[in-house]
Amino acid sequence: AQEKPWGGRFKEATSKKVEAYTESISFDTKMYKQDIMGSKAHAVMLAEQGILTKEEAEILCSGLDRVLEEIESGKLVWKQELEDVHMNIETRLTELVGEVGKKLHTGRSRNDQCCLDLRLYTSDCLRLWEELAKNLIAVLVDKAEENQGVLLPGCTHMQPAQPVSLAHHLLAYAWMFKRDAERICACERRARISPLGAAALAGTTYNLNPQSVAEQLNMYGVFKNSMDTVADRDYVLEALFTGSVIMMHLSRFCEELIWWANPQFAFIYLSDAHSTGSSIMPQKKNPDVAEIMRGKTGRTYGNLMNLLTTLKGLPLTYNRDLQEDKIPFMDTDKTVRTSLSIMAEMLQGIRFRADKMEKALKAGFLNATELADYLVTKGIPFREAHHITGRAVALAEDRGVGLEELSLQDFNHLCDPYHIQVTDDVYVVLDYFTAVKRRNASGGTGPVSVKNQLDELKVWLAAQ
Ligand code: ARG
Repeated sequence: AQEKPWGGRFKEATSKKVEAYTESISFDTKMYKQDIMGSKAHAVMLAEQGILTKEEAEILCSGLDRVLEEIESGKLVWKQELEDVHMNIETRLTELVGEVGKKLHTGRSRNDQCCLDLRLYTSDCLRLWEELAKNLIAVLVDKAEENQGVLLPGCTHMQPAQPVSLAHHLLAYAWMFKRDAERICACERRARISPLGAAALAGTTYNLNPQSVAEQLNMYGVFKNSMDTVADRDYVLEALFTGSVIMMHLSRFCEELIWWANPQFAFIYLSDAHSTGSSIMPQKKNPDVAEIMRGKTGRTYGNLMNLLTTLKGLPLTYNRDLQEDKIPFMDTDKTVRTSLSIMAEMLQGIRFRADKMEKALKAGFLNATELADYLVTKGIPFREAHHITGRAVALAEDRGVGLEELSLQDFNHLCDPYHIQVTDDVYVVLDYFTAVKRRNASGGTGPVSVKNQLDELKVWLAAQ
């Protein structure tokens, strides 16, 4: 039992089953860099405070650098009997530098140490997510810019509603991912707070300087309450929620790409690099990437529920249940970073079929609202105009034509009781391109509004 860093009071060896059951080394080695950085900052601070000598801190720091090298060159053998990344690194350090290695843990507990590591790790992941989200926004902005003149049916209830520009449609996603980038940023600021100095739960009698550790690690501040900070996993929850929202946005986009790729729409061609085939049907080109992304979204929701549930009944302060925090986060992290990056790549390879989109405008009377609004300008109350237009739609549907193919005589006949004159200008209004061009009110699908959105997003991207 003596070989465990905590073995002093134990007379018998730990059961091998228990070691396998309670270990976290199989997943927390991912935080080795954060653990070593945190330990170096702690050692430097201990020397600043006169708790260790300067020489001792130097030996600890260069020893920790050697452990880092061993890890990165694959030389260090992780030991399950040493439980976790923290005790593996400290044990190896002591093997390398001797007795002084045993001084590193002065004024520190694994309870504040594991929080520090996970806060740094989460924050580092969030910074990467932010980069990837911005990259995706930049691709969306590019694609929108290229497709400003292209129209497609905008839908509600998945039914044709009104014509919109493809640029406007793509920018809708750019704004979603901008909100995600802002959420990531806010979450990162709350994650990167140092808990070091809380020790096990009650704080410490050593004259530590938590501020120094925070500064050395580029953190935004230090904990306020030792009991709160060793029990707090809010920042992991926030990251899991933020990741879930990102995946939800990606998944909604995937859903659209999947039906756009269906030959009955053929609004897009996915690049071969981002599609897969069927082992039986030779003609198939499937949007599996988008489907997998939509599918993985559920897992990220599960990870959020997982940790929320783990935390629900936990009393203050540290409970070993908290070790389970890393698994859902690391899983969501992998999903979010791969999905953001592959979506950007896939989008770059998509060929948008303007011809097919524009052909689709003709099905579904997307210009019906335009006719109703036109009749209002002639003095008919909107509710009546709505009704007359409905009858025009029924007539056109009977004849198998679009509203723009009805004659002036047809329109005037429908408006009979109202003593108004429908004139040639109705055909300008009924034109799909006119319908889009006239929607320049802020945030609308009109070209001026779209140009403003592009400008605003480009300014924001450039300021990052
Ligand atoms: N591996 C543990 C975790 O991830 C480290 C903290 C252990 N603390 C303790 N008192 N056993 O939470």
